[in-house]
Amino acid sequence: MRRVAIVGAAMTKFGEDWERGFRDLIAEAGVKAIDDANMSGKEIDAIYGGTMAAGRLIGQEHITALIADYMGLNPIPATRVEAACASGGVALRTGYLAVGSGLHDIVVVGGVEKMTDVPVGDAAVALGGAGDQEWELFMGATFPALYAFIARRHMHEFGTTEEQMAMVAVKNHSNASKNPYAHFQNVISVRDVMKSKKVASPLKLYDCSPITDGAAALILAPLEKARKYTDTPIEIIASSQASDTLALHHRKSLTTLNATVEAARKAYNMAGVKPNDIDVCEVHDCFTIAEIIAYEDLGFVKKGKGGRAIEDGETALDGRIPVNTSGGLKGCGHPVGATGVKQAVEITWQLRGEAKSRQVKGAEIGLTHNVGGSGATCVVSIMRRAD
Ligand code: COA
Repeated sequence: MRRVAIVGAAMTKFGEDWERGFRDLIAEAGVKAIDDANMSGKEIDAIYGGTMAAGRLIGQEHITALIADYMGLNPIPATRVEAACASGGVALRTGYLAVGSGLHDIVVVGGVEKMTDVPVGDAAVALGGAGDQEWELFMGATFPALYAFIARRHMHEFGTTEEQMAMVAVKNHSNASKNPYAHFQNVISVRDVMKSKKVASPLKLYDCSPITDGAAALILAPLEKARKYTDTPIEIIASSQASDTLALHHRKSLTTLNATVEAARKAYNMAGVKPNDIDVCEVHDCFTIAEIIAYEDLGFVKKGKGGRAIEDGETALDGRIPVNTSGGLKGCGHPVGATGVKQAVEITWQLRGEAKSRQVKGAEIGLTHNVGGSGATCVVSIMRRAD
């Protein structure tokens, strides 16, 4: 494998966007990333695009051909990647493999979703396709309901409280308020979360990530050529993916995502680092309980201690291991296909020292954790500022 670096990174403002369509979002992110890498579109060899449900949400399939066409990049190969909410993370891994293998030199990795053109109920049905359609969605279990099962079980096994889950939302809204690209810019309190309407008990409105429009893009290049494009290449030192059962009821435990444990173990081995070496990370907090479980499954704390970690401020911006400096899925928003790419954009900015008021001082190693469905796919990537 050749060593691979991120040489360009960009995203659109996330949120409810009535002004622009799907193709405008991905084109904006793509063009900004190409500009960020100081290159011309002619140098690009391939596109890998993550999107989960364009067919159901905007009635458009064949989206990477659309992107290549709209961005004037024909005739290069343009490949769609779908792995539910991990579509962006798997697109990043696919681009990494393409450059690492020597097949392509310069690759655009994009992620995009336009979710607010349909009513929330229709979006929930589309998202439900990430779980087991026959055994979960058909029986009435939407994604908030599945994560509510997980939350209840975590509370039962480890004494995790609704207030601790609320603290995840409070932290992530606070971080989002420092991120001009975030869906939500408002700071909230534990009381606001506790008072918000019940969605699937014990999860309330503020425990949930929102329905969001947005896109993000990265430019990858072989590390040996990266300095032609940037003074601050960010090397991808590990990229790992694992799978688990689609349906929750087939798992031995509801409180561990085995795909996360496995992908993280392989990623740490590949990078030659330990959980303690991670300076900053973006984890998949589709619901607040998911962030608490991610702390445990990524090895930042012992099993069952995730609630304690948020309560003790360990994952705050100035904590031992700052988590979701972008605001995460909760605060920055969750345009599902874009999320895995956006996570890497945030880590790139952090490692370059460009994250402004949410900058983690001296960050050198960062991690992204992107989950599909309720944990059937997980991608963990580790990045380091190249010397
Ligand atoms: N967090 C905070 N505020 C939210 C929010 C969220 N998750 N979702 C919506 N809001 C706000 C809106 O901005 C709006 O505020 P306003 O009145 O000031 O404009 C208000 O709540 C009502 O918005 P609306 O779109 O009517 O909310 P809703 O009740 O239809 O949808 C959820 C709320 C939680 C059901 C929806 O966001 C949802 O389904 N989230 C989960 C998405 C998901 O499952 N993703 C995949 C994960 S694996």
